[in-house]
Amino acid sequence: MFSYRHAFHAGNHADVLKHLTWLAILRYLGQKDTALQIVDTHAGAGQYRLDQDLARTSGESDAGILRLRAAAEAAARQGQHLPEAVTDYLDTVGHFNPDGQARVYPGSPWISQMLLRPQDKLKLFEVHPTDARLLSKQVEELGKGRQIDVLRRSGFEGLKGLLPPPSRRGAVLMDPSYELKTDYPAVLETLEDALKRFPTGTYAVWYPVIGRPEAHTLARKLKALGTRLQRPWLQAELNVGLQPEEGTSAKVAQGQHHAGMRASGMHLINPPFPLADQLRQALPWVLTALREPVGASWTVTEQSP
Ligand SMILES: C[S@@+](CC[C@H](N)C(=O)[O-])C[C@H]1O[C@@H](n2cnc3c(N)ncnc32)[C@H](O)[C@@H]1O
Repeated sequence: MFSYRHAFHAGNHADVLKHLTWLAILRYLGQKDTALQIVDTHAGAGQYRLDQDLARTSGESDAGILRLRAAAEAAARQGQHLPEAVTDYLDTVGHFNPDGQARVYPGSPWISQMLLRPQDKLKLFEVHPTDARLLSKQVEELGKGRQIDVLRRSGFEGLKGLLPPPSRRGAVLMDPSYELKTDYPAVLETLEDALKRFPTGTYAVWYPVIGRPEAHTLARKLKALGTRLQRPWLQAELNVGLQPEEGTSAKVAQGQHHAGMRASGMHLINPPFPLADQLRQALPWVLTALREPVGASWTVTEQSP
């Protein structure tokens, strides 16, 4: 039985990196009229309340989206311009909060559904019984029934049957909770299989940077996979750092469910070409807003075969 619930973590620094990047990918892909198939292999509940129990228990959004919003408001008062990807991400969160408060946080399915055009399709996999039920209910309320499917089965297994998409255009977000050690090899196996079925798709994998051997090797193996299959890749990491009293030796967190996780990454295969520059402009700004005093950093590395 899975115990991970994304509602505890919604809007944290990892979501900021993931959702800012995912949004930039979908904006780019949406510039061409051809239909897109968007797949979220690990969808979560859809959208989250930041002012209610689960999110307040952890308070992770305080040091994530809420801190970023406050920094953006301060920058606006001083007449500063924000990087385009940051503005777009904050405006998207704002779109779900028309009263100007940040009470609602859009998870990846909600960002994706916001950008759906009539010709596009969205496939959402979720196995947690409660979150799958919440997701189905929220999707039903959207009234976009024919465009969005909620699939209550493993996204690792289900992705195969969806590739290649009929229009040969599509993007896949793979965002496991890494609650199971087997998630690490499953990401690599699923991605390799998907790339064989649909080599030109855009793939985005989120991963934690934590003190587990499997996590250390995943980022490296993802790069090696792209290189071996001769696909362009891009890897972006954001490390928000530590408080001085937390000690410089504990740069990455140990333990279940990444409690205290300070860093994470997005690995992209076949990224849109402007994305590296967009992230190189956005991440320094994000880091200035979210950083703790010790050891904060960002990186963007890429390779084209
Ligand atoms: C990190 S959360 C997803 C968050 C979401 N992508 C977002 O950005 O808003 C991971 C989700 O994957 C679900 N999950 C775990 N294993 C799964 C699997 N094999 N297939 C589909 N969903 C899975 C968990 O229940 C959890 O809701």
